[in-house]
Amino acid sequence: MATSIVGLDIGNGVIRAAEISDPGKSKPTLIRYHSMSVAPGSVHRGEIIDHGSVTAALKQLWSTGGFKSKRVVLGVGNQRVLVRDVSVPKMPLMQIRESLPFQVQDLLPVPVADALLDFYPVSAGTTDVGEMINGLLIAAVKDPVLKNVEAVQAAGLDPVEVDLIPFALARSLLEGANGAGTVALLHIGAVTTSLLVAVDGAPQFVRILQYGGEDVTSALIKKLGVTAEQADQIKRGLGLAIEGVAPEWRPAVETIAASTGDLLDSVRNTLSFYVNTHPDAAFERILISGGGAQLPGLGQALAEATRLPVGLPDPRGNMTVAKSVDQARMQSDAAGLAVAAGLALGNKS
Ligand SMILES: Nc1ncnc2c1ncn2[C@@H]1O[C@H](COP(=O)(O)OP(=O)(O)OP(=O)(O)O)[C@@H](O)[C@H]1O
Ligand SMILES: [Mg+2]
Repeated sequence: MATSIVGLDIGNGVIRAAEISDPGKSKPTLIRYHSMSVAPGSVHRGEIIDHGSVTAALKQLWSTGGFKSKRVVLGVGNQRVLVRDVSVPKMPLMQIRESLPFQVQDLLPVPVADALLDFYPVSAGTTDVGEMINGLLIAAVKDPVLKNVEAVQAAGLDPVEVDLIPFALARSLLEGANGAGTVALLHIGAVTTSLLVAVDGAPQFVRILQYGGEDVTSALIKKLGVTAEQADQIKRGLGLAIEGVAPEWRPAVETIAASTGDLLDSVRNTLSFYVNTHPDAAFERILISGGGAQLPGLGQALAEATRLPVGLPDPRGNMTVAKSVDQARMQSDAAGLAVAAGLALGNKS
């Protein structure tokens, strides 16, 4: 019998779930996708604040979406997750993982005992002190991750794994030609943005930035004195438009441009840092995803700022989409699929 697993993305005000059968196969199948709003404030930066309302929303999500599997892969990727480049002496991966608490205390903002640690190997090299393995240290503050696990369990589900959201995105968006060469994947959410660099689809570098579409909305509220709903509409309507904008909309356009400019600067600086520390690297393209990436004109502005081609990959990747998937929902929320599907795709059990 085919095994299936659900990737669960707990976003800012919305939870999304994608069920995939045989995720380990070369062509996995998406069999269900559904999303559900959660009450404002019940999730903050990926952390569940109101346990009861999220648990209720999860139960409803499972029944309305018709999910058959209770096995769930959860994502982490907010600001309380740190990803650092580290080099450790060469040894088996299991031993590296066991040695992490002793190696990384100085890098962490919290005591080791309060963190969940993992290591993802990237490359091997030899230095004066011997053979080394370079990789990514992933450290998450334990408490919020465990709270999310508890809420999922309280909804009668079985959390089998927790994975880094940027890794999930690499899986669903860097399939085949999209992932060829050195590629930057920029995912702009409501409150969190991640920038991942991959070579031929394999992650090399991750930065999590404290920025999202809500920063643009908040800047508009402050500048124009409008409501959150109005600000969101203005943002989606105007985007980074310059030409043909009536003079009364100038302050709005300038506000959106200033807020987005901060992100473009960070992206450009981060890509320069990567090239400086990896002299052989030459970026082929930037791929963008997430709700914040739908800001009109963002792709073009990013292409101008970095002089790189910018693309919006299809989150269906190389998956087969089964007839059981609610097509209308998937079309209307295609951007939301990438994280949830990528989380499920990583599970090989
Ligand atoms: N067409 C659009 N133009 C501009 N912004 C948009 C558009 N569509 C969505 N957004 C913005 O995208 C953001 C939501 O993105 P997304 O759904 O990826 O976030 P999330 O997963 O809920 O949050 P996070 O990942 O940060 O926890 C909101 O700020 C929203 O206003
Ligand atoms: Mg998100």
